[in-house]
Amino acid sequence: MFGRLAGKVCVVNGAASLIGRAVADRFADEGAVVVGVDKVSHSVGGQAVRADLTDEDAVAGMYREVVRDHGRLDVIYNNVGLMGPGDRSIFEMTLQTWRDAQDANLTSIFLACKHGIPHLRETEPSGGSVINAASFLAAVGSATAPMAYAAAKAGVVQLSRDLGVHLARSGVRVNAVLFGPIETPQQRELLQRDPSALDKRMVHWPMGRFGTLDEAAATIAFLASDDAGFITGAAIPLDGGITEAFTVPE
Ligand SMILES: NC(=O)c1ccc[n+]([C@@H]2O[C@H](COP(=O)([O-])OP(=O)(O)OC[C@H]3O[C@@H](n4cnc5c(N)ncnc54)[C@H](O)[C@@H]3O)[C@@H](O)[C@H]2O)c1
Repeated sequence: MFGRLAGKVCVVNGAASLIGRAVADRFADEGAVVVGVDKVSHSVGGQAVRADLTDEDAVAGMYREVVRDHGRLDVIYNNVGLMGPGDRSIFEMTLQTWRDAQDANLTSIFLACKHGIPHLRETEPSGGSVINAASFLAAVGSATAPMAYAAAKAGVVQLSRDLGVHLARSGVRVNAVLFGPIETPQQRELLQRDPSALDKRMVHWPMGRFGTLDEAAATIAFLASDDAGFITGAAIPLDGGITEAFTVPE
């Protein structure tokens, strides 16, 4: 199982979170050279870079430096995301909250793909894997959705689908991951702000539990590797069955 990314150079965008770190560590365990990128200062990856992924010049420059320093680029995992505190129903939301959500969740991935994928194509042998973090909220309607975030994540799914098909004969695969609730302190805190919020949601979770960081990292590593060589343009659910369920077990 291990060593599937030996010799590969992998960029993790939005690396300074628990999921970002878990994926970066898993990529390294699989033999990759990992560059972690985030807007906050951090120490994720063999090389930790600070950059704002909504700044086009910064994104283009970051990839140029990665290729200059490491000679190639094979995998881009776009973990970057933001669910702002004012992100609720659109009727209670400011335009700024909406714009911030589109920038951090969708424009960042547009830029990461626009400026990163040409380097994947130039690497010998040409090709590679792009994995974009979306959410199960992009696949279901929700009375309690953070609507700007959910709409942006739906954009991530469609962009991944289009790019996957557009590039299908180039050797570059592009997939989205529909994350369900993964066990992180921020996720638990978010769901427990209102005491009934976790209970109200968990009744819809077929497995009745959060996903683990290891489960998340293993899925991303699979998609990054040649084991997923025939998968592209897909939105892979990583959600314990939430998006597949009508009723759930007692
Ligand atoms: N944690 C979950 O349960 C869950 C559920 C559904 C979807 N997701 C999605 O999965 C991904 C990973 O989740 P997470 O919990 O690690 O998210 P997170 O919010 O903790 O981490 C996202 C990272 O992106 C960085 N970032 C945000 N804007 C940036 C910018 N402009 N430039 C550079 N870096 C920027 C943040 O600093 C942060 O380190 C996110 O895209 C999230 O929306 C997570």
